[in-house]
Parts: sequence; structure tokens; C-alpha cells
Amino acid sequence: MSERIGIRVDAEVCQGHALCHAMAPEVYEIDENTGFNGMGEFEVPERLRGPAGRGAAACPERAITLLSE
Ligand code: F3S
Repeated sequence: MSERIGIRVDAEVCQGHALCHAMAPEVYEIDENTGFNGMGEFEVPERLRGPAGRGAAACPERAITLLSE
């Protein structure tokens, strides 16, 4: 059984600092056209909870929320 965790990136709040991607490139992508994280709401495997949380914590705008703590 593979658990998944939900993540929400608020596009209204993201300012394109890209620290999420720097901390956890396996979780967060920066749109190469806009320079912003436009991933919206998505899921990743439970095994990526650590990097997902570190990437969220690194965002100075607090644009990223882990939905299933
Ligand atoms: Fe945006 Fe924060 Fe990442 S501002 S690009 S979600 S570090």
C-alpha cells in the first residue's frame, strides 16, 4: 500500500523565490516560462514527506501547505 500526501501551492501567494525547488527538486518544479511554482494542488508518495515539508518551510511567502499532516 502506498500512502500519498497532498500539497497545495497557492499561485496567488507564490513570488517565484524558487527555494522550494532548491530544497526539494524531487517534489517542486518551477515553471520555466513564468519562473513561478504553478503546481497547484497535487499529491506525492508518503516517502517524500520529508523533502516536501522542507521545501514548504523554505518558502518565505508561506505559499505551500501540506494538506495531510
Ligand atoms: Fe514560490 Fe515559495 Fe517556491 S515563493 S517558487 S512557492 S519558494
